[in-house]
Amino acid sequence: MLPFLYQKVLKPVLFRFDPEWVHDGFVAMGDLLGRTGAGRGLISAMYGYRGPDASVTVDGLRYRTPVVLAAGFDYNGRLAGVLPGMGFGGVEVGSVTALPTPGNDPPRLQRMVRSRSIVVNKGLRNEGVEAVTRRLDSVETPDDFVLGVSIARSNREEAASEEGGIEDYARSLEHLVAAGVGDFYTINISCPNVHGGESFAEPQRLRKLLQRLDRVEHDRPVYAKMPINPPWEEFQRLGDVIEAAGLQGMIIGNLNKDYESAAYPEEAPSSYQGGLSGLPCRERSTELVARSREAWGDRFTLIGCGGILSAEDAMEKFQAGADLVHLISGMIFTGPHLMGEIAEAWARESQGGALPIASGRTSGQR
Ligand SMILES: Cc1cc2nc3c(=O)[nH]c(=O)nc-3n(C[C@H](O)[C@H](O)[C@H](O)COP(=O)(O)O)c2cc1C
Repeated sequence: MLPFLYQKVLKPVLFRFDPEWVHDGFVAMGDLLGRTGAGRGLISAMYGYRGPDASVTVDGLRYRTPVVLAAGFDYNGRLAGVLPGMGFGGVEVGSVTALPTPGNDPPRLQRMVRSRSIVVNKGLRNEGVEAVTRRLDSVETPDDFVLGVSIARSNREEAASEEGGIEDYARSLEHLVAAGVGDFYTINISCPNVHGGESFAEPQRLRKLLQRLDRVEHDRPVYAKMPINPPWEEFQRLGDVIEAAGLQGMIIGNLNKDYESAAYPEEAPSSYQGGLSGLPCRERSTELVARSREAWGDRFTLIGCGGILSAEDAMEKFQAGADLVHLISGMIFTGPHLMGEIAEAWARESQGGALPIASGRTSGQR
């Protein structure tokens, strides 16, 4: 009933409005609902996962389901109250930056409906690490719900140089660690919206960045959010740097910069910059998960992200070797029931032994 209502009633109405306006409205509503027991109960009654045990422990963190809300939806950390009742096992808040960032000029989001994608041109709009840390410090989440924080380089002139950029990331990490906020940290090295600054999706600069971040002492897992457009050899060089730096894993991956990979590229507005989410990311991210698992064995935790619009799409990521999945677009294009469907499919298949043991870092149903 709920999938039908979303597809036939709610989505057609929502898709008539500006995507960023809808997004902000949902965040405000989710924030409100998450603050009270009644609100959380209502959401949980509608979308809470009640199937067979789908919990999984990855890098010592226990997820009630292996489905995590990817970075970019809850960029200011307002939804940790409501998400556990929506079938999510965790959230990646952010990406947050050291300095508050207003983002690019609007419009910042645009739907490509037939291509099942969103053109994202946010420019890392967020309130900055201090405000987000304060907010997260005051939320209580269930023990089996994981709250990670993604950090990115401030989209501002001060952080445009290599040294400025490195110190900017370090400042965010130091702030989070000092406050004891965040169950894991993600270093977003692949945000396609950052203009005028050196990219850290380049081996030498990445090495310097990770060496600096390694000086921040903490015991949380750290992942890198990977670009999906580089050819494999380039991707592999980045992975080797990440391995040498001792990070726990990679999230594969970020938005697709190649507009031709959309099913209907003509839907993309010609004046737009930014990357594509959703379906255009699906094949490439799954391929990179599979090749990474082959290349690095169980050395890395691998998190599959990109174009998961159905439980089958998620199973493809797990089959390719993912320990967990992150998603945004599926929740929008398919509906908020998707997370429960993935959790149930994962529980069924992992209990039946149909999924590969992804990495030695994962325990639970596997
Ligand atoms: C509105 C929006 C904002 C995003 N912002 C970020 C971000 O700040 N940091 C990040 O690492 N990824 C960001 N992403 C990328 C997503 O985390 C994810 O990698 C991508 O959307 C592919 O997953 P999906 O197909 O399930 O949406 C954003 C995506 C969307 C749709």
